[in-house]
Amino acid sequence: MKIGAPKEIFAGEARVAMTPQSAAALQKLGYECVVESGAGAAANFSNEDYRKAGVEVVKTAAALWKAVDIVIKVRAPEPVEVKRFTKGQALISFIWPAQSEALLESLKAKGVTTLAMDMVPRISRAQKMDALSSMANIGGYRAVIEAANNFGRFFTGQITAAGKVPPAKVLVIGAGVAGLAAIGAAQSMGAIVRAFDVRPEVAEQIESMGAEFLFLDFTEDGSGDGGYAAVSSPEFREKQLELFRAQAPEIDIVITTALIPGRDAPKLWLEDMVAAMKPGSVIVDLAAEKGGNCDLTVMDEKITSKNGVTIIGYTDFPSRMATQSSTLYANNIRHMMDDLTPEKDGNAVFDMEDDVIRGSMVTNQGEITFPPPPLKVAAQAKPPAKAAEKTPEELKAIEAQKMRAAGAQQTKLLLVGGALMFVLGLYAPASFMQSFIVFVLAVFIGFQVIWNVSHALHTPLMAITNAISGIIVIGALLQVSGGGWFVALLAGISVLIASINIVGGFMVTRRMLAMFQKS
Ligand code: NAI
Repeated sequence: MKIGAPKEIFAGEARVAMTPQSAAALQKLGYECVVESGAGAAANFSNEDYRKAGVEVVKTAAALWKAVDIVIKVRAPEPVEVKRFTKGQALISFIWPAQSEALLESLKAKGVTTLAMDMVPRISRAQKMDALSSMANIGGYRAVIEAANNFGRFFTGQITAAGKVPPAKVLVIGAGVAGLAAIGAAQSMGAIVRAFDVRPEVAEQIESMGAEFLFLDFTEDGSGDGGYAAVSSPEFREKQLELFRAQAPEIDIVITTALIPGRDAPKLWLEDMVAAMKPGSVIVDLAAEKGGNCDLTVMDEKITSKNGVTIIGYTDFPSRMATQSSTLYANNIRHMMDDLTPEKDGNAVFDMEDDVIRGSMVTNQGEITFPPPPLKVAAQAKPPAKAAEKTPEELKAIEAQKMRAAGAQQTKLLLVGGALMFVLGLYAPASFMQSFIVFVLAVFIGFQVIWNVSHALHTPLMAITNAISGIIVIGALLQVSGGGWFVALLAGISVLIASINIVGGFMVTRRMLAMFQKS
């Protein structure tokens, strides 16, 4: 089969759905690749680059549609593009089916099989095809760059001969893919980063990136289905706004990404908060396309408020980094083609039993297949329900009970052990008993020293275990030539096992040290 990427006709769109690199991977799957002349120019991929990668370059969009079985695109097709389809062709592109009824109807009428890249379910297996995440990642990064470009100060704090510069304070609202990318970028530029999200499970991710999670003193789990948020209650929203209002005078840069799929963006940064910010501050509203999280955002524009706060509502951040976003998007598509080509023979099979393919399919053989049936697997496991909270007194009592039980068990063991030793001592020779007691004590101490240590501390214990293994080796060497063949065999096995322990210990330590070294 032939796959082709036309030049995007949406005004200002610089991305392309196929790169020379992705074409090479598609060819390995058995497909022939075609692009329209100049399709990659705005993303810095020339016709020559495509030709070198074995891609056929055709002059016009009409020629491309005629030549291929599968059309791959970035933006949803415009009516003039839909007209070019013939029955049985397939389309893979962003579609936004919930907002594009007319488009679905026209694709259905043409008999096109359409896979919407924005409908790829958020499940682990589909991560490599998740174009929304790849684009949101770029959006979050670019939002910080855009903010820095419009901010009159450094992000990082500095002490210079000319004076002290405080670090910029950045607040990220909504820590999904875009939000986390923004946190990472702002953090790496040296700013003080704070973040808020209604889903409590992201607190750990935010903190692990070095940012501060703003906790809200309110019990409501904002997690919805599919790894997305649920609509907040009015009381929760009020508390949230209070928190933001208190932050507004301090914060220099706000990046908002809060969104619940299929809804208008919630208004979270209100007019009075903008008014409370310092002049020169910057707001980047990534949710501008869905109405914006900030009251004053104007879609696709950069405006300045009365008190000198810059508010950016661009909706084309990924396109502003077209080389990067085309590379990632084209990779997402080639992973989808990989899923569609089980035999790797250049023939696409639209398997309706496959969750990812069924989830993204919006039209098929003259039918509209949107919305898809609910997923069989949950996108993200919910944390287990917490056990009922215990008071400190109750916890203390439980702890004391546990200690008492452990003490009683140890006394029992000692008594039984002592009795056994006594019986053995009555019959066994004295020289055997001496070695046997040392052996029992060694096992007991070894058990107490190592067994009770938490797993996380086993690596620091490596030095001690190596010392113990060393003693075993010396003991075994002393015995190896002394007794008969059986003693020699036991000593040999001891040397072998102890040596494995020692060498393994050194290897693990080397690996751990390498993790902290910069290459
Ligand atoms: P996402 O769904 O992964 O993240 C949204 C986050 O907002 C979630 O973590 C959610 O829990 C949180 N959220 C929802 N309601 C909230 C509330 N009331 N308060 C605080 N947090 C709340 O979405 P993703 O992929 O990170 O994208 C974020 C936004 O960025 C979307 O609106 C997307 O369309 C937009 N975007 C814009 C681009 C542009 O060029 N302007 C480029 C890429 C993405």
